[in-house]
Amino acid sequence: MVDKLAPFVKWAGGKTQLLHELELRMPKTFKKYYEPFVGGGALLFSLHPGHAVICDTNEQLINVYRQLKADAAAVISEVRKLDAEPCSKERYLEVRSAYNAKIQSGDLDAACAALMIWINKHCFNGLYRVNSKGLFNVPYNNRVKGSSISEENLQGVSSYLRENDVDIRLMDFAEALHDVSEGDFVYFDSPYVPVSDTANFTDYTKDGFTLEDHRRLAGVFRDLAARGVKVMLSNHNVPLVHELYQGFPISEIAVKRFINSDASKRTGKEVIITSYSPE
Ligand SMILES: C[S@@+](CC[C@H](N)C(=O)[O-])C[C@H]1O[C@@H](n2cnc3c(N)ncnc32)[C@H](O)[C@@H]1O
Repeated sequence: MVDKLAPFVKWAGGKTQLLHELELRMPKTFKKYYEPFVGGGALLFSLHPGHAVICDTNEQLINVYRQLKADAAAVISEVRKLDAEPCSKERYLEVRSAYNAKIQSGDLDAACAALMIWINKHCFNGLYRVNSKGLFNVPYNNRVKGSSISEENLQGVSSYLRENDVDIRLMDFAEALHDVSEGDFVYFDSPYVPVSDTANFTDYTKDGFTLEDHRRLAGVFRDLAARGVKVMLSNHNVPLVHELYQGFPISEIAVKRFINSDASKRTGKEVIITSYSPE
């Protein structure tokens, strides 16, 4: 296995730049690692724990993890074919249509995983957004050529997933925790509570994670903490988050944000909350 593994997709809310702060506050020892909102898996790949459960509700993303676990060579060979031709707006739209055809036919195979990775590297800001029919609709980022992957990293990710006890789940976060036990460590990195207009934040969010979901998550956090599970959570530093996690240690951390078209919103504060006193 390569020494250093890294996310294979650029992901909204990716935690690469917060890794150091997260690692400072995570428990020194734990049994199994749970990451129920895995996304690009920045903390997972940094820790590469021997026993882990990873989960997300994004079916295409979970397919990539599963395909890499099953056969990285098949995914790499499909990405190579896509990278062989220089990109243009027309070519991007053509590949996006091929990807959407896969989504429509429910064909969750290595070719679909390769399309997902390639598109992530050629779409605007690595965003993942679908329309009401579930079809991917993010525009082109004008990248013309270059490899969409580090083959060494994908091989490393694949070996990690295959050679360890890593269970990959496609389900809601609460369901993914059905078998968690005392002494396990859960890291929650849910979609963010919006920074602006939190006073009016009720039901609608562009990623579908509602105020009710944030309340549900806080309930799960409290329940796990009471059962002796070690829990860490990150989110924006906004009043709602302080209210939901009142009573737990909360650290405020300054960060730069990359996925925001409004440059003035590219710096801000996040919080890391733990169910235990960080050592
Ligand atoms: C902030 S991102 C996680 C970023 C990740 N830590 C990283 O480093 O890339 C949140 C993830 O939660 C997933 N998600 C949204 N609603 C969910 C739910 N109800 N249960 C599980 N995952 C969900 C999204 O698909 C997204 O990948």
